[in-house]
Amino acid sequence: MGSYYLWLKGLHIAFMVTWFAGLFYLPRLFIYHAPALDAPSRERFGTMEYRLFVIMTLGAGLTALFGIGMLLVNPALLGQGWFQLKLLAVAGLAVYHYRCYRWIVVLRSAAASQDTRWLRWFNEIPVIFLLGGVLLAVLKPSFGS
Ligand code: HEM
Repeated sequence: MGSYYLWLKGLHIAFMVTWFAGLFYLPRLFIYHAPALDAPSRERFGTMEYRLFVIMTLGAGLTALFGIGMLLVNPALLGQGWFQLKLLAVAGLAVYHYRCYRWIVVLRSAAASQDTRWLRWFNEIPVIFLLGGVLLAVLKPSFGS
């Protein structure tokens, strides 16, 4: 593969990092937002969450753009088990990304709640996708094929 492929890969990884920066920090904001009692704080959290979501979506889009760029150069990857599993992980990440948007909408009109247990579990989920996605992409397990 020419050096342009490595440029695509480097940009792919760089924007993947920006995507995950948002995926790790946004749910943390939800945990502070949910129990906040005063309207100015809730307003401020809402603004921070929405702006971070926009940046995070940009990171996701550019990760996919450079990933698809590499796929167009190297379509044989689609036949490899590790890559199919990675795309499954990416599909899961897309659902998680959408759930984050739903939480922004819900918290905008919700009353304060001191029960943030689910949000703390929700905050941990991206770790699984990050480890899974990176280890699959770097180790490229052959699953016996
Ligand atoms: C959004 C959809 C995505 C697509 C279409 C995609 C596609 C690709 C492709 C085609 C490669 C090149 C594989 C190679 O030539 O060896 C690649 C590499 C890589 N991807 Fe993705 N990817 C996506 C998302 C992700 C995510 C979410 C992560 C992290 C969790 C990730 C982490 C990586 C890493 C670390 C590499 C470099 C692997 C290496 O060369 O060692 N990708 N990706």
